[in-house]
Amino acid sequence: MNTIAVIGLLWGDEGKGKIVDLLGEGADIIIRYQGGTNAGHTVYHNGSPLVLHLIPSGIFNKKVICVIGNGCVIDLDSLDKEIKLLEKEGIEVRGRLFISKRAHVTFPFHIFEDKKSEKEKGPKNLGTTSRGIGPTYVDKSARIGVQIVDFLYPDELESKLRVKFDSKRGMAEQYSVASIIDGSLPIAESLKEYFIDAVHYINVKINEGKKVLFEGAQGTLLDIDLGTYPYVTSSNPTVGGICTGTGVPASKIKNVIGVTKAYATRVGKGPFPTEFEEKFQEQFRTDASEFGATTGRPRKCGWFDAFAIKYACMVNGIQSIAVTKLDCLSGIRKIKICVGYRVRNEKQLESFPVHQQLLSEAVPVYEEFDGWSEDIRGVRSEKDLPAAALDYLKALECILNVRVVLVSTGPGREDTIVREELW
Ligand code: GDP
Ligand code: IMO
Ligand code: MG
Repeated sequence: MNTIAVIGLLWGDEGKGKIVDLLGEGADIIIRYQGGTNAGHTVYHNGSPLVLHLIPSGIFNKKVICVIGNGCVIDLDSLDKEIKLLEKEGIEVRGRLFISKRAHVTFPFHIFEDKKSEKEKGPKNLGTTSRGIGPTYVDKSARIGVQIVDFLYPDELESKLRVKFDSKRGMAEQYSVASIIDGSLPIAESLKEYFIDAVHYINVKINEGKKVLFEGAQGTLLDIDLGTYPYVTSSNPTVGGICTGTGVPASKIKNVIGVTKAYATRVGKGPFPTEFEEKFQEQFRTDASEFGATTGRPRKCGWFDAFAIKYACMVNGIQSIAVTKLDCLSGIRKIKICVGYRVRNEKQLESFPVHQQLLSEAVPVYEEFDGWSEDIRGVRSEKDLPAAALDYLKALECILNVRVVLVSTGPGREDTIVREELW
């Protein structure tokens, strides 16, 4: 097996960073295929957390090459800061990070537009990360975007930006073409050696038999096509996003691993059927440190939603999952798993709701399981898990009809039970 995809199963923050860092030990190349700095992937390095936004989570492994694929949107200023932060930590980035020339660029005015649009929507806003993601993908789709490759042809950059400016209301009051170029070109110049034809590069490497890991950002239910629209991001975190976001054909994507916490979380707006009741949630959020890695916002927390995850496994073709943060369920007397939704007292829904009104009315149907009192943080072997924790994992496997191949019991790389070798 020489390719593995790691994909979030719900609304992001499933612990993908940790799993990618861990599986990265066996990889030659790790590639991000969508999203931008809206992602916040936490990796423990020398015992401390480090949050990556654009650079793949395998960068801590010296032998791994990291690639930012064409499906990503790149805020050069943030990227530059991220590179410098890693270098300060003693991580060599030059020569180990490549950026697709086809990727689109997020400029300061995209961030401005993102914030403005959220403000104008008032209480009906989407709760975006304010990183300019939506507006960058809008420009890409409208075919007025700027790609990384455009920095290699600076003479044409001005006219490209001019087209963009002419098409946007109110932009000239805030920014000028000259100020945008002055702000971005020097950074692009300094990163020039990172820019490659990543489509060609990655396909050649796969054909040579190199082990490639595709790192998803966000999660299946934030997918612009398959998620809980409009409360989604503007890219495709699902498996199809790999093909369009890297140029690797579907036939080369061998093993798709879904990542989920042992419970559910959501940050930003949109219905969340299995949300805990308020008092319990507050305590749980504090104990489980459920605050956004990018924005610091409190994450809503709830029971494991097997009905939603079944949908996610279906659209990604997933048979193996990694379950993270199992340690955070310790001490809860009865643990619930949502196995279906009922709406207006009618019979259970057959499929995951399309309309958000229906999702907001969904009443979860739960199965209940005994909890465990033991502290399992850092457990590395299955035999050290309490029987109730093993029963819970077994229940997840039966309900979802998948194998739980990895169990994470703490944020560190070593705090993991590996049940199956994946490479
Ligand atoms: P990502 O966006 O999917 O990479 O996830 P985030 O990094 O945004 O959020 C996951 C959080 O959970 C991070 O703070 C991780 O350090 C932490 N984490 C990951 N796995 C575990 C685990 O098994 N137990 C605990 N306690 N924390 C974990
Ligand atoms: P990782 O990769 C959790 C959410 C935002 C908002 C919606 C749209 O760390 O799992 P956007 O800024 O993308 O236009 O916001 O998507 N969102 C995330 N939630 N984890 C993420 O990334 C997210 N990236 C975006 O909160 O609801
Ligand atoms: Mg995150």
